[in-house]
Amino acid sequence: MQRIGLGNTSEEISIAGLGCMYFGTRVDEKTSFRLLDMYVDHGGNFLDSANKYASWLPGFKGGESETIIGKWLKQNSAPSDLLISSKVGFHYGEIPRSLKKEIIISECEKSLHRMGVETIDIYFAHAYDRDTPIEETMEAFHQLIKAGKIRYAGASNYPGWRLEEANSVARSQGWAGYSCLQQRHTYMEPSSRAEFNNQEFLSPEIEDLCLRKGLSIIAYSPLLGGFYSRMEAPLPALYQNALNEERLLSLRNTCSETGLSPTQLVLAWMVSHSPAIIPLLGCSSSSQLEENLVAVTTSLNPDVVQRLL
Ligand SMILES: NC(=O)c1ccc[n+]([C@@H]2O[C@H](COP(=O)([O-])OP(=O)(O)OC[C@H]3O[C@@H](n4cnc5c(N)ncnc54)[C@H](OP(=O)(O)O)[C@@H]3O)[C@@H](O)[C@H]2O)c1
Repeated sequence: MQRIGLGNTSEEISIAGLGCMYFGTRVDEKTSFRLLDMYVDHGGNFLDSANKYASWLPGFKGGESETIIGKWLKQNSAPSDLLISSKVGFHYGEIPRSLKKEIIISECEKSLHRMGVETIDIYFAHAYDRDTPIEETMEAFHQLIKAGKIRYAGASNYPGWRLEEANSVARSQGWAGYSCLQQRHTYMEPSSRAEFNNQEFLSPEIEDLCLRKGLSIIAYSPLLGGFYSRMEAPLPALYQNALNEERLLSLRNTCSETGLSPTQLVLAWMVSHSPAIIPLLGCSSSSQLEENLVAVTTSLNPDVVQRLL
């Protein structure tokens, strides 16, 4: 699998990450291990998790995904360049939604412990926090980097203004700031004024900001929960608009031309973006991952990419 530079760091990250959100909950341990094995066997080096995964499912409390990653790391010799990510900032259990210093530091310790690692490679602010001074948050990430507890910080679900504010505070202090952004993004365009509760989608404005500032973009929920494998179903409510009707048509036409499934075409389109947008592959079976890995290692003719825009 192709590697690209991670933001303004000297690190190389694979062009698609493995979304581990449901590992240890909806996806049982055996299947999770199989998916992890398959992904690294195909040359992938980026695992995405979070402290709260998957606390919202009945019977679970969060930390299950990190625990599975920890167990897998113990039983396998992971590639030396593996990048493991986790996140902090959203509410789960007793932990409030917050990017206060003490929460960032204490949640990082818990994540390190659950995964059995000394360092988290990319530690994301899972959502921005209006109530905590930005200096406090950025200082906490800086402190973790200095202590070797994390290597890089990333932002997720940030509006452009907050991302720029955070990184300019970091710059003024000589701190690294955020190296990448993880946002909701797929081929379907959200309708104007669509609200995703606590989630932020990749707007053209923030995409441009990342391009100008050299931050990598990571896309979560790239497959709209599997929508592209059942396109006869209605589009999710927040995506019902005229542009997407055209996009669906274009997707269908291009599928027959390329021999790719709609799911594969969406992923291949995303990684063909310049610079590439890194999709997180969330899968519940090895056949899904197999299909998706073919997609992210397929290079699309620039002509096809142009027509899909
Ligand atoms: N930063 C954030 O706030 C945030 C939010 C959400 C997710 N994430 C990250 O992004 C990752 C992916 O998110 P997501 O699960 O929402 O992604 P998604 O791409 O929207 O949906 C993944 C689901 O699509 C279906 N699927 C995948 N490949 C398929 C295939 N080849 N054919 C048919 N169906 C297929 C599966 O559904 P079934 O299991 O039903 O078959 C799979 O669970 C997560 O694991 C997590 O790491 C981050």
